[in-house]
Amino acid sequence: MTTTRQGRLAARPSGWPKRSDWAFTEEAVGEPADGQVLVKVSHLSLDPAMRGWMNDGKSYIPPVVIGEVMRAGGVGEVLATKHPGFKVGDPVTGTFGVQQYAISDGKGMRKVDTRFAPLPTYLGVLGAPGMTAYFGLLDIGKPQPGETVVVSGAAGAVGAVVCQIAKIKGCRVVGIAGGAEKCKYLTDVLHCDAAIDYKNDDLKAGLKKHCPDGIHVYFDNVGGEILDACLGRIALHARIIICGAISQYNSTTPPKGPANYLSLLVNRATMTGMVVFDYAGRYGEAAKEIAGWMAAGKLVHKEDVVGGGIDAFPETLLKLFTGENLGKLVLAL
Ligand SMILES: NC(=O)c1ccc[n+]([C@@H]2O[C@H](COP(=O)([O-])OP(=O)(O)OC[C@H]3O[C@@H](n4cnc5c(N)ncnc54)[C@H](OP(=O)(O)O)[C@@H]3O)[C@@H](O)[C@H]2O)c1
Repeated sequence: MTTTRQGRLAARPSGWPKRSDWAFTEEAVGEPADGQVLVKVSHLSLDPAMRGWMNDGKSYIPPVVIGEVMRAGGVGEVLATKHPGFKVGDPVTGTFGVQQYAISDGKGMRKVDTRFAPLPTYLGVLGAPGMTAYFGLLDIGKPQPGETVVVSGAAGAVGAVVCQIAKIKGCRVVGIAGGAEKCKYLTDVLHCDAAIDYKNDDLKAGLKKHCPDGIHVYFDNVGGEILDACLGRIALHARIIICGAISQYNSTTPPKGPANYLSLLVNRATMTGMVVFDYAGRYGEAAKEIAGWMAAGKLVHKEDVVGGGIDAFPETLLKLFTGENLGKLVLAL
């Protein structure tokens, strides 16, 4: 009998998630019923949003229920199928959860082309982070050639794609990331015009130096003090995309509002929240254009694949918050 190992939410964390907030179970792998497929999951997507899904309360998606298998995107292969849309051996991506095998009714699941890119890439640039970067920057940020685009969390899954699309669109790009290694990656590999190491450099001085005409588009992945510093440097009619606020996700006190918000008034600027799921009907359009840039050598990608399987999930998730990942963080099962 084949069994599947699963990571379940055991408690709602206060502050940083601890190993005791998780429980591990083993279950027999079932047969797919009519309309279902059985998937062997090979890699899981580790996302900052998972921290929010662990909390109770209203959000853009319901919280994970205590005792439930933790929600997670994944990639894998169809092992058995009673679904007309999938055949055995199909490489697929979907929300499979923190488990080795998943039964799916096919909703939200799609086939991917492993001749074009390996499976983990469909969790990064060709998955939700790529879609987030594409629609957040182009649909909300509307960058124009010659404008200055500032990106926080710039060496991460979403940020790295934003930096490169902004360059493709003819913008000056300033990336913000923690540490010299990540900043070198931003300038040498992603071709950012400048990088600011917010952990070791003076962020405000860096923004002043590298954004002499102000910030036209700020793509915010981190919130907190970095958002405030960027607000203080925006140009007339600037567009700010609120994509995420990872600096606040483990906070035990309510997030502080941006002190510099009146800069929006002075500069007739906008600050707009985005949720990638709202663009689900247009993912194909983004994936096609991103794949074209990849094939043309204009857009590079990096997956940071960590081993260890299901039991390594709790500690691997924390790498997003300590900044140990470079590129898209993926757990290999
Ligand atoms: N709105 C949406 O639909 C949507 C969809 C996907 C993702 N997101 C959001 O996009 C953001 C990036 O997600 P991702 O998957 O691409 O993660 P990621 O950037 O690959 O990884 C997270 C990075 O955040 C940085 N970070 C962690 N703590 C920080 C802090 N206190 N201050 C500043 N930076 C910090 C770290 O980089 P450093 O080493 O540079 O600090 C870390 O590597 C997250 O806020 C996420 O919630 C939103």
